[in-house]
Amino acid sequence: MSDRRRKIEVYIRWMIRRDMPEVLAIESESFEHPWPEEDFIRCLRQQNCIGMVAEHDDRVVGYMIYDLCKTRIHVFNFAVASDYRRHNVGTQMLNKLIGKLSRERRTRIVLEVRESNLSAQHFFLTNQFRAISVLQGYYEDTDEDAYIMQYLHKSVSLSQSLVSPSEVDSILEQNNNPNFTPIQEWSLKNDLDGEDPWGLWDDLTE
Ligand SMILES: CC(C)(COP(=O)(O)OP(=O)(O)OC[C@H]1O[C@@H](n2cnc3c(N)ncnc32)[C@H](O)[C@@H]1OP(=O)(O)O)[C@@H](O)C(=O)NCCC(=O)NCCS
Repeated sequence: MSDRRRKIEVYIRWMIRRDMPEVLAIESESFEHPWPEEDFIRCLRQQNCIGMVAEHDDRVVGYMIYDLCKTRIHVFNFAVASDYRRHNVGTQMLNKLIGKLSRERRTRIVLEVRESNLSAQHFFLTNQFRAISVLQGYYEDTDEDAYIMQYLHKSVSLSQSLVSPSEVDSILEQNNNPNFTPIQEWSLKNDLDGEDPWGLWDDLTE
């Protein structure tokens, strides 16, 4: 993309299997330790794990993998194609996610960012996320620390904003154990727009 900093409008939809080659290409240009395809598949097979993509000119230009927990949304993976960065694509995807928060149910979005990933930290800070905790030596590949960053729904007061030690434990437990027990999120069916791209609902809709 030329015309640096021009905002482009993307179409955001659920990830489907045939997006995977484009997603993997973005993943490998974005991270030094990219997820292999098996990690995407294993994650997306969890009932409460969702894949979202941003499309422009029939091309996948960004993706996000997130988990709908009971009271929060946890982002596991998120990247925009390098030639589409700084065009507001990431912000549009985040806004889509923020739109899923509510006062009654999920009130926060949490994610981990590498200490060295300053551009992502800038991006999340610009989008009203705040660093709330440090996980020391979190990344096994480099022993690097992670910052937990959090976005809070406007209904949540500051006194409720800190992550409790048990919540940090649950974040760690979830990430270390890809086979964590999924919550049955029946309400998700409303999000599917009639599509069931990963065969998640086969046993639930019978
Ligand atoms: C982080 C990422 C998803 C941001 O996506 P993006 O589409 O480029 O972000 P946006 O264009 O919506 O940026 C919105 C604002 O965030 C800030 N921002 C974004 N990237 C930035 C950077 N590299 N340096 C400083 N600020 C940045 C800017 O304020 C920007 O507004 P501006 O371009 O008008 O100055 C993208 O850089 C990326 O894919 N990085 C590699 C993968 C990664 O680190 N993922 C996050 C893992 S936790």
